Amino acid sequence: MIQPQMPETKHWSFRRDVENLGWLTINTPGAPVNTLSREAIMELETLVERFEDLASSHELVGVILLSGKDSGFIAGADVSEFDAMSDFSVLPEALKRTHALFARIEALKIPVVAGIHGFCLGGGLELALACHYRIAVNNDKTRIGFPEVNLGIFPGFGGTGRSIRQAGPVDAMQIMLTGKMLRAGAARGMNLVDKLVRHRDMLAWEARKAVLGKRKSREAALVKKVMGMGPARSYVANKMREQTAKKVRREHYPAPYALIDLFEAHGNDWRAMIRGETERFVPLMGSETATNLRRVFFASESLKKLGAKGAKFARVHVIGAGVMGGDIAAWCALKGMSVTLQDLDVERIQPALDRGKKLFKKRLRKKFEVDAAELRLEADPTGKGISRADVIIEAVVEKLEVKQSIFGGLEDKLKPGAILATNTSSIELERIAEHLKQPERLIGLHFFNPVAQLPLVEVIRSTFNTDAEIGKGAAFALAIGKSPVVVKSAPGFLVNRVLMPYMLGAVQRVEAGESKELLDAAAVAFGMPMGPIELMDTVGLDVGKSVATELGHAIPVESKFATLVKDGKLGRKSGEGFYKWVDGKAQKGETPDHADLAGLGRELVKPLVDMTEVVVGEGVVPNADLADIGVILGTGFAPFRGGPLRARQNGKA
Ligand code: NAI
Repeated sequence: MIQPQMPETKHWSFRRDVENLGWLTINTPGAPVNTLSREAIMELETLVERFEDLASSHELVGVILLSGKDSGFIAGADVSEFDAMSDFSVLPEALKRTHALFARIEALKIPVVAGIHGFCLGGGLELALACHYRIAVNNDKTRIGFPEVNLGIFPGFGGTGRSIRQAGPVDAMQIMLTGKMLRAGAARGMNLVDKLVRHRDMLAWEARKAVLGKRKSREAALVKKVMGMGPARSYVANKMREQTAKKVRREHYPAPYALIDLFEAHGNDWRAMIRGETERFVPLMGSETATNLRRVFFASESLKKLGAKGAKFARVHVIGAGVMGGDIAAWCALKGMSVTLQDLDVERIQPALDRGKKLFKKRLRKKFEVDAAELRLEADPTGKGISRADVIIEAVVEKLEVKQSIFGGLEDKLKPGAILATNTSSIELERIAEHLKQPERLIGLHFFNPVAQLPLVEVIRSTFNTDAEIGKGAAFALAIGKSPVVVKSAPGFLVNRVLMPYMLGAVQRVEAGESKELLDAAAVAFGMPMGPIELMDTVGLDVGKSVATELGHAIPVESKFATLVKDGKLGRKSGEGFYKWVDGKAQKGETPDHADLAGLGRELVKPLVDMTEVVVGEGVVPNADLADIGVILGTGFAPFRGGPLRARQNGKA
């Protein structure tokens, strides 16, 4: 088979077969996932030029775009280039070029078909949408969506208009505004994909049929398009603004609002939408929010590289089936591990198994998966799982003697190389490990409550540990889908240490007569996910008080805080704390007016930022970047501000 003369490319390979079908494969060199870097786009330009020639001379009947990587199709544009691209002088030109390229692909006289497996996100989806037909593998790995909002932008390669053309305004805007990743079936349901196949190896055959049959994707049905027409559009745009406002504020996260404005202006005409895209996109890319969110993105990506290579974790044994131990055990079972859960008797373990069942039902889709997860989580009151476990996590009551005696009794039973960890939130590891024969084996794996929701695990390093134990601990956290930040064994570690002065500061102001509603509203206006008083109620006043005492903060006996604890008013879990709680919601009164709410929020957050500086200064975390990401993941601290230290650097905290 004589191959046509093609340009040299690093990111793409091309082959024409006997039927004159062109097989174009993307394979980003030296990277685990494909991205659309500027170089990849420029190479694609040269290829498309050839496709135009070959099509007009009838030497090519169609192009099939596939990925050469197991990880998926294309994960998006290359985010590492974004900082350079946020330069206003180059960005519009670069976007214009990509828009022109995608339009040329769309205008090719021969069918262009995308075959999708795994991740097809952001710029990758935009490229797929510029093809004439899309086929996706219908398995658990396929993920299709626009995660751009998470980076403070929206789709910039024409995806705004093309997704509306395919899915209609309501569905398309929904996925762009939320950044939600769709499974293959849902993407098909929205008409973002035209055909599903069961296996990756069926993509090529189906794509060939699509080209030879000159199949072309259909636009969204009229009933869907109607919502973008006439006065309906403004109504829909306003609804979207209302929904968005429930989650984020315009001054913090401008991207979704800018996208809604774009939709309101042009949502009835997908081409006009694309034409208007760049003008609204460019200022977002250079904004402080986007710059900070990119930094958070890179910091969380860097945490993924922390773990020791090759460590395998099949069996986990958890001691203590209370709030934390029970939820940690269930989480590990959810993530595919076999878990034995120990407590003083089976009766104390049962509630944890019941909670586990609820979690599995919520997170797993198929009944057989739920059943399998239930089987993986086993009550083990006698500790028979200890000798087989790859990881042992202790989460019993916060008492030194109890913890010491548990570890003392374990040491001789362990499998060689097993991780030995405590979930203590305040006791120094050195003291727990004091009497161990191999004190270097004990690390901390400090989870946060609720385990299923908070992504951070502080991997606590004692003076006895070496890199080997810590690397394994981090690898385990990653294996269960959590983000590890390595922290020195010092009271409060990172997150509790910085949270306490912030929450207590607010509690003191409430004690002095200030409105809790106002303080909470102010922290939210600053960008916190919830205010400090509501947070204290959520954590539990008893837990808060004991951590505060452990960290040396005095809580006067006659204070409101101490009285609430004494009266069993422990916050959300008991139905009353500083607030009354109904159905998991704090019952708030009127918020008094305040001239500078965000300014007040900034004042409230100051002790947290100050303490983060102290913690970095003491070397509890190795550097400012890790402190910032740890505080964001562990407390929800305003990600758009880039973390407490970045916020201070930018003069925002
Ligand atoms: P919890 O009181 O809910 O559970 C402790 C469990 O340990 C109870 O079920 C108890 O029966 C069991 N237990 C006591 N002695 C035992 C023994 N000798 N053998 C086996 N089981 C025994 O406590 P929680 O809140 O789950 O805390 C557990 C640990 O996790 C503590 O070290 C705490 O500091 C830490 N932690 C707690 C957080 C929270 O928000 N509650 C957050 C992060 C860490």
